[in-house]
Amino acid sequence: MSHKLGIIGYGGMACWHHDSIKANFTDLTVVAAYDIDEGRRELAKSRGLTVFETADEFLASHLFDIVLVATPNNFHCDYVCRALKAGYNVVCEKPVALNCAELDLMEQTAKETGKLFSVHQNRRWDQDYRIVKEAYEKGLVGKPFTVESRVHGQGGMVHGWREFKVAGGGMVYDWGVHLIDQILDMIPSKVVSVYANLHVVRTKEVDDYFKLVFRFENGITAQVEVGTFNLVQLPRWYVCGSGGALVIEGWDCSGKIIHTKDHLMKWEPVVVQTKAGPTRTMAPRPADTLEELPLPHVETSWSSYYRNIMDTIDGKAELIVTIPSVRRVLRVIEACFESDKRGEGVKTDI
Ligand SMILES: NC(=O)c1ccc[n+]([C@@H]2O[C@H](COP(=O)([O-])OP(=O)(O)OC[C@H]3O[C@@H](n4cnc5c(N)ncnc54)[C@H](O)[C@@H]3O)[C@@H](O)[C@H]2O)c1
Repeated sequence: MSHKLGIIGYGGMACWHHDSIKANFTDLTVVAAYDIDEGRRELAKSRGLTVFETADEFLASHLFDIVLVATPNNFHCDYVCRALKAGYNVVCEKPVALNCAELDLMEQTAKETGKLFSVHQNRRWDQDYRIVKEAYEKGLVGKPFTVESRVHGQGGMVHGWREFKVAGGGMVYDWGVHLIDQILDMIPSKVVSVYANLHVVRTKEVDDYFKLVFRFENGITAQVEVGTFNLVQLPRWYVCGSGGALVIEGWDCSGKIIHTKDHLMKWEPVVVQTKAGPTRTMAPRPADTLEELPLPHVETSWSSYYRNIMDTIDGKAELIVTIPSVRRVLRVIEACFESDKRGEGVKTDI
């Protein structure tokens, strides 16, 4: 069955949805938009959409069966609830809400209306993430004990509404929500504690750098770090396990897995002289005890997200980005804010 999409908030991300749907689907078409800003409404019109002057007119039109909410974060809850009540299936941009209380309201409304409600956590289909997930699940570094995920920018800038607390700005809500979602999607265990430190480095009121460390019940330590002013950049992913380590350098997904050769686990360690003095423990392994493996090859596409939305509406699939899964992410985010405020780690049961 074919589907039609109407968009509330025709900004940067909405244009991305529009273009990517055009490029990837024949059975999903973007047909309408509403935006509070006249210039954006004009743009939507010039790109062939039916455009409405008010949200009420948009929601009364029934020109489409799916609504995408792509406004700044503080408007998500209100528009999602209104669209569900008007009888639409709803996809909301991330972060779904600013807190769990808002999400409760949205979820309750979805239950009452019986409509599909999902969140655009598209980064579950990112190639770098899928490579790490594959390596994790296939034990390519043995049993993982630490996972680091980070995004480092250099601009030292946060744009538009993202600069303001009231709009749900800051990096925890912006990039953090994706990186936390990926970690929770990959590691099948409970988060038992969270420590987070948020910084306002170049912004006025929202976090533009944060470091989050969470501990899982299965013993894994995960770290998520996002900054906008990291002039020296560290790898996107770094995973260590009982048999090796994996690194992915950046957006281009270059990287490697380093393994020990099983039959060469034992060698005679020697003391090496370094500028920091002699060490045996930290001496490099002989090169012939190591082997380098390529990263696993994975095929992935962001369009899988909308394919799953349509298949779920048509009764042909189970929803992938479920509300319980995004609630866990929001609970970790709430724990981050709590930990930062208290200046200590918080115990969790997430
Ligand atoms: N999934 C992703 O990878 C990803 C990437 C970027 C942004 N996003 C999310 O998409 C959403 C939009 O971000 P963006 O970068 O497109 O921002 P943007 O500023 O480019 O676009 C927001 C649009 O919403 C409109 N708007 C503002 N208030 C409104 C209101 N009350 N009613 C109707 N329209 C309103 C603005 O005029 C603007 O056109 C955010 O929730 C953001 O977190 C997701």
